Amino acid sequence: MPETDAQGEKSFYPDLPVKTERFDLKGAGAYDWGMQNRLARIFSPASGRTVMLAFDHGYFQGPTTGLERLDLSIVPLAHHADALMLTRGALRSTIPTTYTGGIVMRASGGPSILKDLSNERIAVDMEDAARMNVHAVAVQVYVGGEHETQSVENMTRLVDAGYRYGIPVLGVTAVGRELTRDARYLGLATRICAELGAQFVKTYYVEEGFDSVTAGCPVPVVMAGGKKQPELDALTMAYRAVQEGAAGVDMGRNIFQSEAPAAMISAVRKIVHEDASPAEAYELYQELARGRTLA
Ligand code: R5P
Repeated sequence: MPETDAQGEKSFYPDLPVKTERFDLKGAGAYDWGMQNRLARIFSPASGRTVMLAFDHGYFQGPTTGLERLDLSIVPLAHHADALMLTRGALRSTIPTTYTGGIVMRASGGPSILKDLSNERIAVDMEDAARMNVHAVAVQVYVGGEHETQSVENMTRLVDAGYRYGIPVLGVTAVGRELTRDARYLGLATRICAELGAQFVKTYYVEEGFDSVTAGCPVPVVMAGGKKQPELDALTMAYRAVQEGAAGVDMGRNIFQSEAPAAMISAVRKIVHEDASPAEAYELYQELARGRTLA
């Protein structure tokens, strides 16, 4: 028989309204607890932004330069990122189970660089994504591509499955060689991803009209890194993207192909989470790269 609760007078503080904490991520107000909680593992509740480290390239490119040995190049960097964007194979084979940061898992694939990349299929079952404790799955969407409808359907099927488990979907706007990478196209592609259910979208930065892309997308937009540039140029691009409405970055080659990857991701964090200028962030990069301060 349970003991009776005989501690005396109870304290319900009737004059104190119950405090309801809000997680103010764009478009996320109506999501269930699990989905909001997973998004809060990717987007810092303090800044509302994220620094994702992308190293999923192997799913279509094989051993990309800088990713020959994930255990040597990526594992030491993992704690600098808010979330890792990776494949199922990389997670299970290489990422320590003691890692507690965000995980965004590539969930589409099929063709290699030798074929038409838009001909993708869903590559991870949502049940397995839940088993691996991931915080989101990512799917490539080829608006205007040869297999546009198929890639959009991959995304909508993942969105449906994601709602069953509380796992958000990142729609990644893929730009084929034949498509113009401008604000009009990226505005179309990001909006299609959001309208069809992606909880956040990854897209490229463009110098003209990027603010219209982020403003026209009802969910967070994360800037894609793209090919390796000089560090100051990559930091400047990240700065402009967040100042023009991006909720962070998902960068790969500009970090892991940098001469000082830990210094570079620290500098990117300063821009994304502290609104530092490119000059301030570059100064930090140089200081860390010289080894004056341990990263
Ligand atoms: C791009 O859409 C893929 O997800 C890539 O494998 C990767 O995320 C790209 O990263 P980055 O262009 O910054 O090297």
